[in-house]
Amino acid sequence: MKSVRHFLDLRDCTVAEVQRILAIADELKVGYFRGQRPVLLERKVLGMIFEKMSLRTRVSFEAGMAHLGGSSIMLEEQHIGFGKREPVNDIGHVLSSMVDAIVFRAKSHQSVVELAKYCTCPVINALTDRSHPCQALADMMTVREEFGHFDGVKIVWVGDSNNVAASLIEAAAKLGGEVVVSSPRGYRFSDADLELFTSGETHPDFVLRQESDPAKAVAGAQVVCTDVWVSMGQEKEEAERRKAFADYQVNEALMSGAASDAIFMHCLPARRGLEVTSGVIDGAGSRIVQEASNRMHAQKGLLVWLLNEAQPSE
Ligand code: CP
Ligand code: NVA
Repeated sequence: MKSVRHFLDLRDCTVAEVQRILAIADELKVGYFRGQRPVLLERKVLGMIFEKMSLRTRVSFEAGMAHLGGSSIMLEEQHIGFGKREPVNDIGHVLSSMVDAIVFRAKSHQSVVELAKYCTCPVINALTDRSHPCQALADMMTVREEFGHFDGVKIVWVGDSNNVAASLIEAAAKLGGEVVVSSPRGYRFSDADLELFTSGETHPDFVLRQESDPAKAVAGAQVVCTDVWVSMGQEKEEAERRKAFADYQVNEALMSGAASDAIFMHCLPARRGLEVTSGVIDGAGSRIVQEASNRMHAQKGLLVWLLNEAQPSE
């Protein structure tokens, strides 16, 4: 089978590759606001399998493909019955004979890894229980737009050590900056997790640590990020998670310990009054809309890189 370059996790990329994706994204974003929509993926077709709900990821990929001259086909789980109606290898072989790339939002990370094994076109991870690399590209793009660089920028993650946090660490490991993760006992990354996220090439300026006290973690931070306490698929754990994360809310008091120019980020959707107060998420330091809109620009950079530059020559 021909060898294919997929985009499953940021740790699989080199520093230069992640920098290149964001450079294309920046250029396309500047052009977009000048009314330019360069046809870099003319007639290319993106298949999109979604086993979980989505607003941002779905729309940003569909709009991005249309801007670049291509098209997309949405394949909802109930329509294709991933792994139930037919085995994954048949889905992989058939789909990749018809489309140029596949975006997959999966309940289990293993499903994305499995599908990629059988595809002769690139597969993009659009969120799993383990990671959300497309989100992290947009997040780092937003940080750089704010501060102009990553060197010495302190990014603090408060709350659940989840899929979005994992990919943020992997992105910063490639681009630089300091990441501090503040999660309660029982919801922290293990040493093995951190080792995995930072495997492969890392940026020399990258620093990573965990600090269980959120106030200490946030001290002097330029960027404070959080996400829901109950991710998709964890609904049965809602009551115990609400209890465990009660002291990890990003509120005005916590933000007052961050740098005076600190920004707040959240991948969305958010639950106001739980992981973040309305005052913070709707306040002057919040960059949630810019962050969400950067999903489209970052993914356009990713698609152009993956389809036009990253595939091994035959
Ligand atoms: N942040 C994010 O991935 O949003 P959706 O779940 O709406 O795609
Ligand atoms: N951690 C959240 C992110 C949603 C974009 C989830 O997995 O549900």
